[in-house]
Amino acid sequence: MSVEVVVEGLTKSFGRQVIWRDVSLTLPAGEISVLLGPSGTGKSVFLKTLVGLLRPDRGHIWIDGHDLANCGERKLYELRRLFGVLFQDGALFGSMTLYDNIAFPLREHTRKTEAEIRRIVMGKVELVGLRGAEGKLPGEISGGMRKRAGLARALVLDPRIILFDEPDSGLDPVRTAYLNQLIVDLNADTGATFLIVTHDVNTARTVPDEIGLMFRRELVMFGPREMVLSSDEPVVRQFLNARRHGPIGMSEEQDTEQGTEQGIEQGSRELASEPAEEHRFGGLPPIPPQLMPSGGRIRASQPVPGAWLSANGVVPPAGSFVDEHGRDWRAEYPRLLAG
Ligand SMILES: Nc1ncnc2c1ncn2[C@@H]1O[C@H](COP(=O)(O)OP(=O)(O)OP(=O)(O)O)[C@@H](O)[C@H]1O
Ligand SMILES: [Mg+2]
Repeated sequence: MSVEVVVEGLTKSFGRQVIWRDVSLTLPAGEISVLLGPSGTGKSVFLKTLVGLLRPDRGHIWIDGHDLANCGERKLYELRRLFGVLFQDGALFGSMTLYDNIAFPLREHTRKTEAEIRRIVMGKVELVGLRGAEGKLPGEISGGMRKRAGLARALVLDPRIILFDEPDSGLDPVRTAYLNQLIVDLNADTGATFLIVTHDVNTARTVPDEIGLMFRRELVMFGPREMVLSSDEPVVRQFLNARRHGPIGMSEEQDTEQGTEQGIEQGSRELASEPAEEHRFGGLPPIPPQLMPSGGRIRASQPVPGAWLSANGVVPPAGSFVDEHGRDWRAEYPRLLAG
């Protein structure tokens, strides 16, 4: 029942401005992927393109043998129903209560009775921890609550692919931890395919099975968490360690807006000269254990800790896979599997 999404050679521009080009990646069925990148690199545009709200200039988006990027309106409508999207701003209707916002896709896309709708909506309200707030208007609640209402709405049609655009932005660290646990549990429960756009380095390091990074109009890297977290690529290292020194500067947004061919070439030249300055990056921090679902469960798509590293002969930094209780998950995981 899990759905794979294969993106091939995707390019998107607005007028003369190239947002990103030649993006290829596979969101493995049922797995959690994270997409990182400086502000303005086109992550939100990428999500909107995936769900068919924006049409790319070139390339393919394969889902179940259909090309979402090049199909007709009717097929697109059908394919869109596979998706649940949590938009960056929540995208709630300001004049509707949270309840009506969350019920909206059900009323729009199904013939369910109000009693059935009530059961589903209240289930999702409970799931995201908004019980008691369902009668409120979006303007009457906090940004974090709006995010959670947006999440509840993204989930009501039981989507097979869920896209999250910065679900954790504007949340305090405790709420972010709860939300990450909710996301991991949701993946364990539904087996849906997840793509999360985030700026939170801790989320990126601990939640996903795959990590991707967009930078200067390209997907710099996309692959298994252990591969990306042990990568020597300067941009990847800078981003995942939240370092000030490195190829990513404050002018990133400006660079992106000047997305001309000339700008792209200059960016590539700069990038090519940067590995020489590797010493600036220091040693890699330990690879943290992956966030596990609650209740001692294991997600169907969960990779075995350390498997990618040993298959590829990569020795992780000391202290990798050790949690805050001092347990090494390379030993803990087989025990959980057996028990
Ligand atoms: N509909 C549109 N028409 C024209 N330009 C657009 C449109 N949508 C986005 N852009 C441009 O595309 C670029 C990428 O925007 P996008 O919102 O995808 O960035 P982002 O990576 O999500 O940034 P952030 O991390 O700040 O959310 C920006 O320069 C933006 O101005
Ligand atoms: Mg965005």
